[in-house]
Amino acid sequence: MKNIGVLTGGGDCPGLNAAIRAVVRHSIDTYSFNVIGFKRGWAGLLEGLVEPLTKYAVSGILPKGGTILGTSRTNPDKVEDGYLKIRENFRKFGLDAIISIGGNDTLGVAANLQIKYDVPCVCVPKTIDNDVACTDFTIGFDTAVSIATAAIDNLHSTAESHDRVMVVEVMGRHAGWIAAFSGIAGGADIILVPEKPFNMDEVCEILKKRHKRRGRSFSIIVAAEGATSDDGAISAKSAKTDPFGNIILGGLGVTLSHEIEKKTGFETRYVILGHTQRGGTPTPVDRILATRFGVRAVDLVARGETGKMVGTSGGSIVQVPVLDIVETDKKGFYKGKTKTLDMEFYETAKVFFG
Ligand code: F6P
Repeated sequence: MKNIGVLTGGGDCPGLNAAIRAVVRHSIDTYSFNVIGFKRGWAGLLEGLVEPLTKYAVSGILPKGGTILGTSRTNPDKVEDGYLKIRENFRKFGLDAIISIGGNDTLGVAANLQIKYDVPCVCVPKTIDNDVACTDFTIGFDTAVSIATAAIDNLHSTAESHDRVMVVEVMGRHAGWIAAFSGIAGGADIILVPEKPFNMDEVCEILKKRHKRRGRSFSIIVAAEGATSDDGAISAKSAKTDPFGNIILGGLGVTLSHEIEKKTGFETRYVILGHTQRGGTPTPVDRILATRFGVRAVDLVARGETGKMVGTSGGSIVQVPVLDIVETDKKGFYKGKTKTLDMEFYETAKVFFG
């Protein structure tokens, strides 16, 4: 009989509840383990905010968006003796392992706990950004791509009716996965990603050629929020950061659309999809991925194989050492490595530019 703690940290995404349900059901039904939920990410372990997770507590949550445990961007490194407090609570609650469901920030904390503080953790990757290393996909990505694609589909008809350029800003702080996938699926005329600084004149040239050649004056540009122009003049960078030091983005579409209108004379509008991409019910793909991840995470705890992250590779569920998904910061602390866009997707998308 083991006691497992489970938490969801960082930005929420559809599919978290499916993962929590899988952890609870498999723990209780297969192994007779006890599961304690910690609320609001690492804040739950710092402050002892718990929720016992029974089968009843997770009944009916599979299709629901968000997370029944709540989440936060609480960084133990920003709290006095934060890591020591977590270890103290880990022992106080008699836990054998923590299943940490999160993105690069949350999983970086889990790596520090596992490696530096001797707190056994198993990591489950989630983020709509799909930028966690060593896994093909993260929970939430497929739903975000579906939402963004549906938005692009809707924008096509209004762009066409009004002969307008539409700039669709999607999430993707350091990686252009959502932009590339939704842009390909939605037939975008230009896609801008953080991995490839864009040249404003080239963007306008593509638009002008397209409108001249095709004799129609509408275009759809999909831009990841973290994309920047090669001269640095167009970007969404702000001075505000979150507790993990990530710059709070949003608003690239505004500057970009003004600039396009100014340089081309084409009437241009922007839509910032923002947090709509993180809301709502998860797609079947995300529910299945979350369920498979949750089940494998519990199996790893049962086998005493902590210090690992579950992931997917070529359709199979795999597990990788947590050290493979992190790098060290200036202070020697671990943080998640960013998995940037596989540029093969970008090259494919480019075939359809203009
Ligand atoms: O979780 C990743 C992400 O959705 C990024 O794409 C985005 O930049 C960020 O979170 C937004 O964070 P918040 O919800 O704190 O505004």
